[in-house]
Amino acid sequence: MNLENKVAIVTGGNQGIGYATAVSLAAAGANVVIMARNTKINREAVNNINGLYPGKASAEELDVTSKVSVKTAFERVYLEFGHLDILVNNAGICNLSQPFENIDEDKWDQVMDVNLKGILNCVKTVIPIFKKQNSGKIINVASLAGEVGGIATSADYVASKAAVIGLTKSLARYLGQYNVNVNAVAPGFIDTEMTKEMSIPMNVIPLRCVGKPQDVADGITFLASERSRYITGTTLDINGGVFMK
Ligand code: NAI
Repeated sequence: MNLENKVAIVTGGNQGIGYATAVSLAAAGANVVIMARNTKINREAVNNINGLYPGKASAEELDVTSKVSVKTAFERVYLEFGHLDILVNNAGICNLSQPFENIDEDKWDQVMDVNLKGILNCVKTVIPIFKKQNSGKIINVASLAGEVGGIATSADYVASKAAVIGLTKSLARYLGQYNVNVNAVAPGFIDTEMTKEMSIPMNVIPLRCVGKPQDVADGITFLASERSRYITGTTLDINGGVFMK
């Protein structure tokens, strides 16, 4: 997959699935800008990627819930490179499974803000750019939880990720006329910080192993490439077979 000269933004790209995606996009030739909250981890991620693919990575400290920061940071990238080709909406937070009546309203709002409004902020910012270019790729990181109702995660997280799948379809219908592909990936259980505290029922995974961030990064890189030219509005399941459509 050749992404030479493409410019990609990966939110939450400093660790886990986002980091693996940033590496994978850089390996395919893209210039990758990591947008995540922690400057120190951002710097480490950029140094690691540039050690492998010199000059391909940079980072901006960003909270996706801040509309103003997103606009400023994205426009800086567009000004620097003169184009913007790929947006990976990966930043996300998760609450673990609990009885519904225990769901805390503040935590509900936090999950919705990051997982859903974060995407709104990022997509609203790239739409004028993608329209002007008549090209672009948006890949949203949803979740198996949004498809099956959550196995180890709380209903607020489930609702946010189900909404990401719906949003992906709605955006795909709207942006297709501007030659913009909008797709999602729905990872199952992937070995990252997010799943550290999770008890994972291995018997529900037909492939009998937890996924690696690279497994998801490979799917995202495909959806960011011209190999997926005629695919839009879909959700690619990367879950070891837990959920089969
Ligand atoms: P992680 O916790 O390692 O990474 C999350 C990333 O999002 C971090 O870089 C964090 O700094 C960033 N982030 C969180 N809030 C942010 C904000 N307000 N602004 C900017 N960045 C923010 O977790 P992981 O597993 O790599 O998660 C990545 C995505 O994959 C998330 O959207 C998650 O919901 C999704 N996912 C993960 C699964 C798993 O099994 N690990 C399964 C299904 C979906």
